[in-house]
Amino acid sequence: MRRSSLILTTEEDAMLNGEMGKTIQKAMEIIVGLGKIYQAKRLIPVSSVQVAGVSYDNLGEAGLHFLESLAQDGAKCRVPTTLNPAGMDLHNWRNLGISSDFAEKQWRVLNAYEQLGVTTTCTCTPYLIGYSPKFHEHIAWSESSAVCYANSMLGAFSNREGGPSALAAGLTGRTAEYGFHLDGNRIPTITVILDFPLPNTEFRTHLFGALGKLIGEKITSEGKKEIPIIVGLINASTEEMKSFSASIATYGGLALFHASGLTPESDLFPLPKRSITISKTELEQTLQQLQTGLEQQFDFISLGCPHLSIREIKRIAELVQGKQVKVEFWLTTARKTKELADQLGYSEIIEKSGIKFAADTCCVVAPLKNRFRAMLTDSAKACFYAKSKNNMDAALISFDQVISKAIQ
Ligand code: F3S
Repeated sequence: MRRSSLILTTEEDAMLNGEMGKTIQKAMEIIVGLGKIYQAKRLIPVSSVQVAGVSYDNLGEAGLHFLESLAQDGAKCRVPTTLNPAGMDLHNWRNLGISSDFAEKQWRVLNAYEQLGVTTTCTCTPYLIGYSPKFHEHIAWSESSAVCYANSMLGAFSNREGGPSALAAGLTGRTAEYGFHLDGNRIPTITVILDFPLPNTEFRTHLFGALGKLIGEKITSEGKKEIPIIVGLINASTEEMKSFSASIATYGGLALFHASGLTPESDLFPLPKRSITISKTELEQTLQQLQTGLEQQFDFISLGCPHLSIREIKRIAELVQGKQVKVEFWLTTARKTKELADQLGYSEIIEKSGIKFAADTCCVVAPLKNRFRAMLTDSAKACFYAKSKNNMDAALISFDQVISKAIQ
């Protein structure tokens, strides 16, 4: 059947007509509405979905009631659907100073998602815990850092969904075919040349965050949408590229980049003639911007934006063994990664030092406004949101320096 230029299959049309219940109908209305706005010709199946909009701190009462109303008619997601971080560690929330009132509301949010058939992974790095899409697989993810990582580093096809449109994709198993689902929209538009080698050290997450900010801001400064292909970004680790993806998405609004010799689609296209060069001086200046106020006293430290990998947790255990931290210090990670850290003995070493695990949540989506004054981190994205969402000062230093500052 034809609705404007969007053609639906018989099954999709049945969903839209309410034959599969009111929630599925609402979900299909969202997908079809987006399809019409972006002039999609058809809907396509997605193999996985990741939903942002989980913390009660962001959703509020209106969001909670919306989710509970959706969950009422028994509709379930048709494809594997996971969740972004919640507003608290689901086991350890009391130890992190979360109120029982907030916890009760947060549990209601999670219960509603569970009733809708969503797996409550509560992580922004599903690709680190077994939810990794394959090359050219169509997905509908909504966390900006994860979308950018999946599109760029894994070669999956996703638009940056909003929370409701991602949930709608989970419930219908469909998304409209537009944007980054189409090959022609993934072609690089500008070559970005790094004209200096990055220092050859380990755990350069802060540096890659600064680089993501620099490139993101520079190529979008004239309000143009660009897809960069970066030349000179080589030998980067998963952890460094998750930091880069988070940062370029935050500061430049990008959901896709290519990097010659590093990302899987980079060989498919010729380098665009239009180019810019990034100098070492510019990167140093960006780092300095992110380090403003470094001399002040920090009353909060956090590592794990995006969520920590097991390799990062291992590194922390090595650095803090036998030491004590003197300030509130959260490690944010996926529950599954925390469980692996428990099994490997890293959690015990880390917790003995006074550092707290904050699994299932993060320093941005937890209700931290007015609790702390200044945060130290290795994440350029966390610096941005500490200021804009949580009213905190924030400064960026390297992963290892964060630990050494904490145990001074
Ligand atoms: Fe993840 Fe929270 Fe950072 S969702 S990317 S840890 S802001």
